[in-house]
Amino acid sequence: MAIVEVNHPLIQHKLTFLRNKDTDTKTFRETLNEIAGLMTYEATKELKLEETEVETPLMKTKSYILPDKAVAVVPILRAGLGMVDGILALVPTAKVGHIGVYRNEETLEPVYYYCKLPTDIAERKVILVDPMLATGGSAIYAIDYLKENGVTDITFMCLVAAPEGLAKVIKKHPDVDIYAAKIDQGLDENGYIYPGLGDCGDRIFGTK
Ligand code: URA
Repeated sequence: MAIVEVNHPLIQHKLTFLRNKDTDTKTFRETLNEIAGLMTYEATKELKLEETEVETPLMKTKSYILPDKAVAVVPILRAGLGMVDGILALVPTAKVGHIGVYRNEETLEPVYYYCKLPTDIAERKVILVDPMLATGGSAIYAIDYLKENGVTDITFMCLVAAPEGLAKVIKKHPDVDIYAAKIDQGLDENGYIYPGLGDCGDRIFGTK
């Protein structure tokens, strides 16, 4: 298990534009995907490769490629969708699953309202994405769901994480690697991350 704050200057620079309340929807969307791509570069550095042979204009040589079933990307609905294109730009052969889940506030049980995963997901490394790791509830439920479906190699990728949510996810799923562009100060009384960037779904889709 690893918690990685990806402190690359390009990521930190771009995150400033996402935090800015005056950033327009188009710029927000594009910048979020750019950060997702940069974080993917970091989060995939342990991917296993297969040896192959390739013929250059000069000679045959040994080289390396990703196996067919290397990666699946799974956004948690809806804000996770805002990072998918950026990840696929770097790993175009990845398959994409979706998990929509919320907590029933009466029963306190998770309600999986829309879940669709690639059939071979258990053979892949899964990059689970949600830009905001706030209380950790959705992340924990989504990881539960992936494990129930046989997934053993999970990396959770978010943009901003609250320390409270991080602690909960690590406690329940210590085997999952977590990548965040920034670990923020905490959660406010409404469950928003501060300083954060507001409601990420609304900012991606322009619904506010
Ligand atoms: N979800 C968001 O979109 N923003 C937060 O700050 C917390 C959860």
